[in-house]
Amino acid sequence: MRSHNPFTLTGKTILITGASSGIGQGIAVACASQGAKVLLLGRDLERLKETIALCENGCDHGMISLDLADDTKIKEEFESFVKPYAPIDGFVHAAGISPTIPFKVMKKNQVLETFQLNLFSAITLIQTLSKSALKSSEGMSMVMISSVMSEVGEKGKSLYAMTKAAMVGMVKSLALEYADKNIRFNAISPSVINTPLSLKSEYRKDDAAMKLVQSQHPLGLGEIEDVANAAVYLLSDASKWATGTNMIVDGGYLAR
Ligand SMILES: NC(=O)c1ccc[n+]([C@@H]2O[C@H](COP(=O)([O-])OP(=O)(O)OC[C@H]3O[C@@H](n4cnc5c(N)ncnc54)[C@H](OP(=O)(O)O)[C@@H]3O)[C@@H](O)[C@H]2O)c1
Repeated sequence: MRSHNPFTLTGKTILITGASSGIGQGIAVACASQGAKVLLLGRDLERLKETIALCENGCDHGMISLDLADDTKIKEEFESFVKPYAPIDGFVHAAGISPTIPFKVMKKNQVLETFQLNLFSAITLIQTLSKSALKSSEGMSMVMISSVMSEVGEKGKSLYAMTKAAMVGMVKSLALEYADKNIRFNAISPSVINTPLSLKSEYRKDDAAMKLVQSQHPLGLGEIEDVANAAVYLLSDASKWATGTNMIVDGGYLAR
């Protein structure tokens, strides 16, 4: 019988954006419970401290308050933060916003702001983390939190869907570009997960709309741990042959 647990994250150091809330916070807690050292990135320092308090082995972990809307700041501050923790084994980009904007009134600045946070910031972070001085010689796993909106549409969600589909496109090409450096890239596409972000959704304000959303999910709406456990798998050696995939975690939403 095998004694090694391929799902363990013991000995791995993993950077997580969006770690001050919702899915990112849940991923941080799940990674720490599997033995990882976690490096948390968000803007709200108090909520990052709350995440650390929820993590096992709290004193091992690190955190940085950084506004991902500001690419110049990322370039100035991120590398010096992460350097002392190198080598880095994993990265999860969970920071994101989900605007609902009818296409006919969409403004260029809204497009740029949403792309900056959901995608462009991830590009800068990936380019930094994949430097040979930072990446683990054992390989790395990078996980982008996309959305079922990468696969299907919804009224008012064209901007959000563009950013999430772009993420999946990026993951596939980077999987090929970085395979010889042993860096794996995968996306996770959740449907509705009960988090502060999804609690603000328009359909939550209307009983009939909420019932419709519930009926579209044969297994009910998702919980943070449903995404966190998928992320643990993709960050662990259990997924060492998985790269360039988009893992759908949606309670059956896309199976209809
Ligand atoms: N919840 C869902 O139903 C669902 C479904 C599919 C996909 N997703 C995706 O999952 C990811 C996480 O969503 P969530 O529901 O967990 O959202 P959430 O609870 O609102 O958390 C969003 C996170 O993004 C961070 N963030 C926002 N703006 C930032 C900025 N300018 N700079 C740095 N960090 C920033 C926030 O940090 P601060 O608060 O500290 O600024 C927070 O930690 C998003 O990419 C979302 O698109 C969510």
